[in-house]
Amino acid sequence: MKASIIGTGYVGLVTGACLAEVGNHVKCFDLDERKIGMLRDGDIPIFEPGLKEIVRNNVAAGRLSFTTDAAESARYAKLQMIAVGTPPGEDGSADLTYVLAAARGIAEHMDGPRVIVDKSTVPVGTADKVKNEVAQTLAKRDLCSFCGFFAIDRARRATGRQRCNAEDNRPFHRATIPL
Ligand SMILES: NC(=O)c1ccc[n+]([C@@H]2O[C@H](COP(=O)([O-])OP(=O)(O)OC[C@H]3O[C@@H](n4cnc5c(N)ncnc54)[C@H](O)[C@@H]3O)[C@@H](O)[C@H]2O)c1
Repeated sequence: MKASIIGTGYVGLVTGACLAEVGNHVKCFDLDERKIGMLRDGDIPIFEPGLKEIVRNNVAAGRLSFTTDAAESARYAKLQMIAVGTPPGEDGSADLTYVLAAARGIAEHMDGPRVIVDKSTVPVGTADKVKNEVAQTLAKRDLCSFCGFFAIDRARRATGRQRCNAEDNRPFHRATIPL
């Protein structure tokens, strides 16, 4: 199995390392370049007995890798596990800002179906919020499939969107495909 872990903190790093240790292929993604730099250098940003050896062994075995690239993470695996922080908000409830940003990042870059798991500690109902965030983000991506000749009018009809413009035609002009 392959998995991407979004958020390489206490929970994300330990989860990723343990999944790799039992034979899975794991990519740990974090926006924090310093943290990912340390991990790539074989250092561990947290104290957890035995973790350093597990991380090093699994990196050496090619089962564990680290990235700061959201697209690389979203495209790596069907299974996407969100393990970002959920700090308490002003009223004490979990702040889902980071979780929803992580979901948005997956949706912006995914190139096929994904199973998204909330590994962060979240309240009941968060899965629906994550699902909505993904759906809204995907709706902003102009996706359509076509066969035969491509035409902007067809793309507009297929996507129901008016954003397609003459720029979109350029590669097809170059290829002298009739529009
Ligand atoms: N630490 C624990 O012992 C523990 C135990 C049980 C549950 N939890 C829960 O697990 C979740 C994670 O906790 P933690 O302690 O690992 O947090 P952490 O702060 O150590 O790590 C979170 C990481 O997510 C990264 N991040 C934030 N937004 C991101 C994004 N959009 N894309 C990629 N990376 C992003 C941050 O840079 C940070 O490195 C929280 O919901 C927490 O409540 C933690």
